Amino acid sequence: MSTADFDRWQTRFSATDGYVFGEAPNHFLVACADLLPAAGRALAVADGEGRNGVWLATRGLAVVSLDFSPVAQAKARRLAARHGVAPEFIEADVHVWDYPEAAFDAVVEVFTQFSAPPQRAQKWAGMRRAVKPGGVLIVQGYTPRQLAHGTGGPRVEANLYTEPMLRDAFGDWVIERLVEEEVEMSEGEGHAGLSAVIGLVARKPG
Ligand SMILES: C[S@@+](CC[C@H](N)C(=O)[O-])C[C@H]1O[C@@H](n2cnc3c(N)ncnc32)[C@H](O)[C@@H]1O
Repeated sequence: MSTADFDRWQTRFSATDGYVFGEAPNHFLVACADLLPAAGRALAVADGEGRNGVWLATRGLAVVSLDFSPVAQAKARRLAARHGVAPEFIEADVHVWDYPEAAFDAVVEVFTQFSAPPQRAQKWAGMRRAVKPGGVLIVQGYTPRQLAHGTGGPRVEANLYTEPMLRDAFGDWVIERLVEEEVEMSEGEGHAGLSAVIGLVARKPG
């Protein structure tokens, strides 16, 4: 993690009292509700202002919400309190966090494409390790087609996700859903307008 990246996110979240990515959960995550466990532990990776972690907690899961921005996590705590849930908040760099082995029934990564390819490999290795056998990994990210839309996400093609990339990283698990789509996104001012996204649900064998 560079200091510049950290400062940029802190500044972005400090610029408003509102929720840059909205308070409602990501649309793909909600669409995958039928594949989520009814109970157990969930990890929300780079959960920011907490919309996804809080939603998972309202479904009865014990959630760990991981992010490096204390400003975002302060907002996430307020969101959680409003919903009457209490995720555990961990302030850490998702690339180097010590992901516990087989600790979570669900690991969720929504819009974390700040990772360059070598960092992405570290992060995904940790996420894979953290899922329990039989648990699910849910990923939502932008595809390279998003560069033409400019409605959110990084403008760095190497950081964006493709179907071959996801199959290469998670194809040894059971792919339960892999959806590439263009959607009218309304997830805060940060993700607004026609968007090219891909979503994956992979289940760890065992
Ligand atoms: C685009 S936002 C998405 C937040 C959340 N997943 C959502 O969908 O609303 C990216 C998040 O990644 C966090 N972040 C960026 N780099 C990080 C890093 N190296 N370690 C931990 N969090 C990071 C930022 O603080 C921000 O909350």
